[in-house]
Amino acid sequence: MIRKCLFPVAGYGTRFLPATKAVPKEMLPILTKPLMQYGVEEAMNAGMSTMAIVTGRSKKAIEDHFDINYEIEDQIKGTDKENYLIGIREVISKCTFSYTRQIQMKGLGHAILTGEPLIGNEPFAVILADDLCDNGSDDGVLAQMVKLYDKYKCSIVAIEEVNPSETKKYGIIDGTQIEDGIYRVHNMVEKPNPKDALTNLAIIGRYILTPDIFDIIRDTKPGKGGEIQITDTLMTQASIGNVIAYKFKGKRFDCGSVDGFVEATNYFYNQSK
Ligand code: G1P
Repeated sequence: MIRKCLFPVAGYGTRFLPATKAVPKEMLPILTKPLMQYGVEEAMNAGMSTMAIVTGRSKKAIEDHFDINYEIEDQIKGTDKENYLIGIREVISKCTFSYTRQIQMKGLGHAILTGEPLIGNEPFAVILADDLCDNGSDDGVLAQMVKLYDKYKCSIVAIEEVNPSETKKYGIIDGTQIEDGIYRVHNMVEKPNPKDALTNLAIIGRYILTPDIFDIIRDTKPGKGGEIQITDTLMTQASIGNVIAYKFKGKRFDCGSVDGFVEATNYFYNQSK
């Protein structure tokens, strides 16, 4: 059983400046709900209730969001506006949130290692909240991956086919298809140029990781961009057949880009009508 979900949220969100000068990018809303809350709800939908958040300076709004705001509660008590808080109240009452700070930005692998004290020695999920996923009323992406973990008991990455010109934005995998949409990974490369890309199967921001990943990260040298890449550490597991890639069911929006953010906003707005 997977109980914990790690959220690396220390990144600066430079693509959304100036909006992200004082507001964490994970707190930008799609309609009225911040990206971070969508992520936490997806983890809850997958049966997780312990949220492990690797945070950084200027990210205090995330902690405040998953807490009670007594002043607002007092102001709207007994009015219709209380309905706006039903969702977040439920999240707060059902989950625990723990935080640790990433002092220096040394890559996603480093961020995940920073979360080790919050995770311990058990398999766990990772959500990158700026990849927003939706599968209507069916299982969310993480819930689909948890089912797969029960079967394969190894690390799992969610993938989707991207335009071959876009491989340099993603970790790219190559593998052998063992079931419809499920691959045993034998190679993976972080952000290759299109001409060097193994395939167009791109990792999106959902992972299930086995806890041996922490020792592997400690032994992994900086890769692309001088950062410790989770893709490189996963390659160590993949080399002994311990990584599965899963073409998930549902839609995914790259809300770290303005285009993806607007697309998600339109999509969720139309869904709400
Ligand atoms: C990270 C990972 C990359 C993955 C991507 C998914 O990159 O390093 O392998 O494909 O997330 O969103 P980032 O977008 O943080 O640069």
